[in-house]
Amino acid sequence: MVEGSRVAWVGSAAQAPAADEVVDAGGRAVLPGFVDSHSHLVFAGDRSREFAARMAGEAYAAGGIRTTVAATRAATDEQLTAHVARLVQEMGRQGTTTVEIKSGYGLTVHDEARSLAVARQFTDETTFLGAHVVPAEYADDPAGYVELVTGPMLEAAAPHARWVDAFCETGAFDVDQARAVLAAGAAHGLRGRLHASQLGPGPGVVLAAELGLAAVDHCTYLTDADIDALRDSGTVATLLPGVEFSTRQPYPDARRLIDAGVSVALASDCNPGSSFTSSVPLCIALAVREMGMTPAEAVHAATYGGARALLRDDVGRLTVGARADLVLLDAPSYLHLAYRPGVPLVAGTWIGGRPAWPG
Ligand code: NIG
Ligand code: FE
Repeated sequence: MVEGSRVAWVGSAAQAPAADEVVDAGGRAVLPGFVDSHSHLVFAGDRSREFAARMAGEAYAAGGIRTTVAATRAATDEQLTAHVARLVQEMGRQGTTTVEIKSGYGLTVHDEARSLAVARQFTDETTFLGAHVVPAEYADDPAGYVELVTGPMLEAAAPHARWVDAFCETGAFDVDQARAVLAAGAAHGLRGRLHASQLGPGPGVVLAAELGLAAVDHCTYLTDADIDALRDSGTVATLLPGVEFSTRQPYPDARRLIDAGVSVALASDCNPGSSFTSSVPLCIALAVREMGMTPAEAVHAATYGGARALLRDDVGRLTVGARADLVLLDAPSYLHLAYRPGVPLVAGTWIGGRPAWPG
């Protein structure tokens, strides 16, 4: 039962208290709305040719980000806003009721601040990712770029952001640079999260655990020491199977993480380079088929896990007091999310107790 924007009672229909309005789901499944804790929606341009080249055998590299940076800088605020609106709507139709959105395709003081201002119109979960890649104009001076990110860019971005993030990977930022960015963000009141071990094993996962970050994302290549550190710190490992699908990399081993006692989230990483899907149901299906997760674990990771990765206790679950963010499936069970991959099963969503889609 929902009262105002919150869940007021949970139990079997036969015991339900009287309500002013009753919605009969007709035997269909109702789940918490998906919490997509990792996306890069503020961008312009298209990299479908890069995708096609990968499918023909080319490898994914961090440098492709610069193509999107050029297109994003050239776009107007209105174009960026309209594009984010379209993608957020696309996510909503697939059951996402909470979304995190990063900057990271502006990479100037002005373009990072405006990217976050655009993102802020759609969510409170905004993340400053000035440390996404070193832009072309700083190619000879990466240290100078880190100074810009930790100085004037952070200053301009912080009022629009809740989180700070860095891409800790070969071809992007090393562990000392990532540490500097996270520390500067923390000094401005931003909580940290990190991209790490996407393209190969690296020191980012241990850094995230050591700093007690809410989440470390990708985790495609993990060592035993990484897994121990994650278990001990409680940092959530956010797995992004859309990336492995779209870069032809091996999927992360979710089973190994879960069996070791690590908290896992699933998210879309929606972005034009490594994962241009807005579909959490696709991620759930991939996680079950390719990553050793049970359907229940995958749905939990895409709801409760995403909420944990964002340090939120009001979303991602349907317990008394939680925000009434619901997904109605055109199916009798959550199992169908993995059993019927690629099928648009979301029949409706509610956010804060109000119909959000189809309205
Ligand atoms: O999460 N890993 C870094 N950033 C994005 C990819 C960005 C791009 O290729 O445009 C990611 O995969
Ligand atoms: Fe990402």
